[in-house]
Amino acid sequence: MEINYELLMNSAKKAAQNSYSPFSRFAVGAAVLASSGKIYEGCNVENSSFGLTICAERCAIFKAVSEGEKEIVAVAIYSPNADSCYPCGACRQVMYEFQGDNEEISVITENLGQLEVQKLSYFLPCGFRI
Ligand code: THU
Repeated sequence: MEINYELLMNSAKKAAQNSYSPFSRFAVGAAVLASSGKIYEGCNVENSSFGLTICAERCAIFKAVSEGEKEIVAVAIYSPNADSCYPCGACRQVMYEFQGDNEEISVITENLGQLEVQKLSYFLPCGFRI
């Protein structure tokens, strides 16, 4: 599938504006392109009980899956509070769960204003699957 990296990154930037991160003051936005062609946005949502926090990537992925999506094609991640923001290990494994058999997920980040595009296996070489 054709992926519009700029469009997806702009969606992640928009989503970061909704971040609820009063504890870390580290806002994150994510945008997921599903195999249907639809884009789902998510942000990190923190909690007074810190361990209940959800990352932006998983927020967006769970929105997509709960709307009936089965496959993810690409994920863009953005934080206005860092020069670059790569996905945490937990989110990498959750992405892997929804990777299609024929196409690796593309992971898009922005480093000092430059888009970087990597395949998920760059971040997670041996994902776990049952
Ligand atoms: N965070 C994300 O949303 N995604 C990541 O991949 C890394 C971390 C959030 C969780 C928490 O709200 C804040 O960043 C600081 O860890």
